[in-house]
Amino acid sequence: MVPAPLMLKPALDAMGKAIDQRFDKLLAVPSDSRARLYEAMRYAAMGGGKRMRPLLVVAACDLFQVDRERALRVALAIECIHVYSLIHDDLPCMDDDDLRHGKPTVHLAFDEATAVLAGDCLHDLAFEILADPATHDDPVARLELITQLALQSGPAGMAGGQMMDLVAGDVKYDLAGITRLQQLKTGALIVWCLEAGAIMGRASEAEKKSLRGYARDLGLAFQIADDLLDVEGTSAKTGKAVQKDAAAGKATFVSLLGLERARDQASALIDQAIGQLSGFGPEADLLRAIARFAVERDR
Ligand code: IPE
Ligand code: IPE
Ligand code: MG
Ligand code: MG
Ligand code: MG
Repeated sequence: MVPAPLMLKPALDAMGKAIDQRFDKLLAVPSDSRARLYEAMRYAAMGGGKRMRPLLVVAACDLFQVDRERALRVALAIECIHVYSLIHDDLPCMDDDDLRHGKPTVHLAFDEATAVLAGDCLHDLAFEILADPATHDDPVARLELITQLALQSGPAGMAGGQMMDLVAGDVKYDLAGITRLQQLKTGALIVWCLEAGAIMGRASEAEKKSLRGYARDLGLAFQIADDLLDVEGTSAKTGKAVQKDAAAGKATFVSLLGLERARDQASALIDQAIGQLSGFGPEADLLRAIARFAVERDR
């Protein structure tokens, strides 16, 4: 079998281009004193990440033959939220990181205040994109996308998980605690990607249930892979600092289970994620490949 990272490379590269083109338009720099804010958003959003969340959105939309342009708007919205979460995650008051996507973090390339605002504005833009009738004709579907994104990115989702992570040096989480932390901090936005595909495609309840199950397993496995890369990866490949979690005294799956069992756990979760898709045929092959990529990646 072709390794997942190789198999997925063309799809991820194409998604990278599609997302960059849209950010280029969305973030056109105005000729007034807000220019610095737009420059910072462009710096953070363009040319960097793997674009796995946008690919998940489009792969889920493709199950239901959703119009590609509309699917890409939804994909752009989640990437806005993701990039915002990274800008804030890197701030001195959070992980205090110097490197992201192989270049200085936004607060270093610009300054802290600009980084905070750039994150805030990417967050806002996500909701603006979803609220636009160009995303879906039906206002009820748009409202559902927005409500779910608010839930998955807020205190009951990503931001709540970030809070749990920030205190992870002091609070001693057990396996259940770490699982919940990871589900919120990383899993929630991944759940939204699949939920959004289901909303766009008017999926049945049964289809929604399998997509949610897939997303939950994938989200957890993806964060275990991130924690493994923090221990075993290189900064040259990942484009960010490594060996940070242990230095911060943070409990992760790796610190609790050890490398080998964490690796086994990630791969068991991926088998389970793929199993959740058994009701779908070859149209879900891209989702299956993304799941394998999530744990086989080196960046
Ligand atoms: C990094 O996510 C942050 C986590 C939630 C683990 P990604 O590894 O998807 O980041 P990029 O966008 O590809 O850099
Ligand atoms: C960040 O998790 C998750 C977010 C919600 C941004 P990490 O702090 O582990 O992500 P990296 O390792 O800095 O990318
Ligand atoms: Mg963090
Ligand atoms: Mg971090
Ligand atoms: Mg990490």
